[in-house]
Amino acid sequence: MELPFAEPYKIKVIEPIYRSLRSERETWIEAARFNLFNLRSDQVYIDLLTDSGTGALSQMQWSEIMLGDESYAGSLSYHKLRDTIQQLLGMPYFLPAHQGRAAENVLFSAMLSPGDVVPGNSHFDTTKGHIEFRKAIAIDCTIDEATATDQWHPFKGNVDLEKLEAVFQKYPQGKIPVCILTITNNTSGGQPVSMENIRGASALCRKYGVPLFLDAARFAENAYFIKTREQGYADKGIREIVLEMFSYADGATMSSKKDAIVNIGGFMACRDKALYEKASVFNIMFEGFITYGGLAGRDLGALAQGLMEGTEYDYLDARIGQVAYLGKMLSDYGIPIQQPTGGHAVFIDAGKFLPHVPKEQFRAQTLAIELYLQGGVRGVEIGTLLADRDPVTRQNRYPALELLRLAIPRRAYTNNHMEYVAACLKNIFDQRESITSGYAIVNEAPIMRHFTVELKKA
Ligand code: F0G
Repeated sequence: MELPFAEPYKIKVIEPIYRSLRSERETWIEAARFNLFNLRSDQVYIDLLTDSGTGALSQMQWSEIMLGDESYAGSLSYHKLRDTIQQLLGMPYFLPAHQGRAAENVLFSAMLSPGDVVPGNSHFDTTKGHIEFRKAIAIDCTIDEATATDQWHPFKGNVDLEKLEAVFQKYPQGKIPVCILTITNNTSGGQPVSMENIRGASALCRKYGVPLFLDAARFAENAYFIKTREQGYADKGIREIVLEMFSYADGATMSSKKDAIVNIGGFMACRDKALYEKASVFNIMFEGFITYGGLAGRDLGALAQGLMEGTEYDYLDARIGQVAYLGKMLSDYGIPIQQPTGGHAVFIDAGKFLPHVPKEQFRAQTLAIELYLQGGVRGVEIGTLLADRDPVTRQNRYPALELLRLAIPRRAYTNNHMEYVAACLKNIFDQRESITSGYAIVNEAPIMRHFTVELKKA
């Protein structure tokens, strides 16, 4: 008999979580204006809002926290991280930042001007936000297969090279300061990008003189999928694959709160000394001196250690296996999800789950609220609220996919928790015909509205 996957660690410290009553949840969600970001964490039983900064640290990471060197300049923890990034990613220059969007802020301050165009594969919302904030345009060139949720494709995160080349041809040279590949592609469902696709995008970028940057928040999970799905990589180690992935890029930003399994941290890395020097000025202005970048020394040490742990095959196998386990339970119940499951989350197709709710009433948000009411489980809407309004017409943008994301924190929950979540969704699925109305906006911010939007029952 083939042995099942199991975690290569055991639990040493636990954190109690409160399993509330439905009547309590009804009061709380109304008081939160039907925005799950407004809930207190003790009003949530299983928190699948994000896999960002919510993972469990290892004893080695806690040891690094104790060893943290808090020197303002030249901290040994910084040097530990610098050596790790050079060794793991092969990038000669790096700047620490307090998280991913801070690294984006530093990089784009050095790179973008109004009117610029930044193509890529479904930029994450903070990435798009930083681009649009600078009056530049983000163009999504993800392959069309990414939106066919019921169709299996090994690399649904891929960028469509023809769409990308069309962008390169449409805009004059100098208008495209960077192309961004997000690995894995969060927006399309934590879907990986193949090595062949990274190589192809890199060649195209080189042909048109455009630097290629990776949004590397989940680079290790991407490497795992390359190893397990792409021909020619089965016998290669995760770190060998990582090094090859980065060899095609000119630089990267990373929210280290994901694959480096830390509660806070990020960085940008690049090969170009001139860019590094230009970005250093913004880093000092926004984040702090270049050897700490808005982080404590102990954070830098935990991050360096986390990068090594996050690129271990056995860990990735158990982590991605747990996500697949939840996905399989939901599929077996007939619940429509993005197939195959991604690296960090299961994405439920709320458009198909709740077709009787008008799309103007935010189907994925409606499902998120139902799931919370059902069992105290918090997911996040990846749909119309997240997509914001069109910056020019101010109309709602209806994305191709209306998804509820269940992001699984790393090393935090057990498979019993996954079974509980699946049972909650099965109960809602069984009574889905009776859910016919959603929510309306009472109040919203002009950009990144999903964090603070206030809703009422439609
Ligand atoms: N890039 C990607 C692909 C991300 O998923 C995120 C964050 C960021 C950049 C920004 O990083 O949060 O450290 O500033 N994603 C989180 C999520 C918030 O829930 O998916 P950050």
